[in-house]
Amino acid sequence: MASQNIQRLEMGVFNELLEAKRRLERGGMEMIDLSIGSPDTPPPDFVKEEIIRHASSDTNYGYTMGAIPTFNGKVAAFYEDRYGVPLNPRAEVLQLIGSQDGLAHLATALVDPGDIVLVPDPGYPIFEVGVHIAGGEPWRMPLREEFGFLPRLDHIPKEIAERAKMMVLNYPANPVAALADQAFLEEAVRFARQNDILIVQDFTYSELVFDGQRAVSLLSVPGAKEVAVEFNSFSKTFNIAGCRVGYMAGNAEVLRIMATMMSHTQYGIFYPIQKAAEAALTKGGDFIRKQVALYQSRRDALTDALTNAGWNTAKPAATMYVWTRTPKGWLSSDFVFQLMEETGVVLTPGSAFGAEGEGFVRITLVQPEEKLREAAARIGGFLKT
Ligand SMILES: Cc1ncc(COP(=O)(O)O)c(C=O)c1O
Repeated sequence: MASQNIQRLEMGVFNELLEAKRRLERGGMEMIDLSIGSPDTPPPDFVKEEIIRHASSDTNYGYTMGAIPTFNGKVAAFYEDRYGVPLNPRAEVLQLIGSQDGLAHLATALVDPGDIVLVPDPGYPIFEVGVHIAGGEPWRMPLREEFGFLPRLDHIPKEIAERAKMMVLNYPANPVAALADQAFLEEAVRFARQNDILIVQDFTYSELVFDGQRAVSLLSVPGAKEVAVEFNSFSKTFNIAGCRVGYMAGNAEVLRIMATMMSHTQYGIFYPIQKAAEAALTKGGDFIRKQVALYQSRRDALTDALTNAGWNTAKPAATMYVWTRTPKGWLSSDFVFQLMEETGVVLTPGSAFGAEGEGFVRITLVQPEEKLREAAARIGGFLKT
């Protein structure tokens, strides 16, 4: 029944994980779920108030047909302010129903059957899934610890680089929780220009960066707008993942193609949510600082507790994830499933994000510190058995 492109998708380990978790819950086990990336704390009050205020007006329930007139300008002001990147609001910003939706459909808009798309391994699954839906061929770029979890562009075979139409990057990165430095972003732009490749940079975790560092926007690299688009989201920065709002910025021709496709497939985002997103962009500075402090403190609580419990875990530079090697050389999936059965702590096996993720697990920081410490204590007990 399923089309050939859809047949290539696998539900895989995420489904198995969910089923096992539900079975254990039904059996009365108290679970600590550190597997999902949905923020557990509320959005700022001024964001909620904006939704409530506009939702109470009878006239705000029609189709919006895309961004309201002020939205793109507010994104442009945010980009200029936070990353020093000037954007033309009319041509270089496109609102999306969540960055996920844009990432899922970009390949459909740009890739023909047989085109190669370079994707990170391990990587966030939609990068590869979007390529499959479009009938393209993903080519996995290994992200290895010894290279700071950055792809080695000089290791990509010449014939692959020549055939590639797009390259997906995601820094700060899910799941590997790494940052890209200026030198790498410059190298990526050079590589893209040389090989006539579009860079698709997923900047969803742009603000969750620790220890006083800041993430660099790819679009700040000279010449990047000629070869790149950058996706961003409100979900993790402002805790409104369920509102479904995001945007892409950069290359005007790519945005025009996406906008043409979306004009047929989408009727726009609920007006109150667009207003709430605008408020987040203009008034969110203090909230972002609090978010960073919250996740940094959770990161420290968890990694210190795990290290004390005998599982040496380094502190990631960014994101809401800890990416660490499994203890004692366990295979990712074996470790995660046994740990869950015995302790109720749910992690994600690194192998769920690609073959290069084998031997790692991803732990999310979306629980209060005391829960994270309790999870570490349970894990410590498990490792002693
Ligand atoms: C790397 C990455 N990109 C995109 C998304 C989806 O973001 P949005 O809620 O804007 O669709 C996620 C969500 O977990 C993510 O981890």
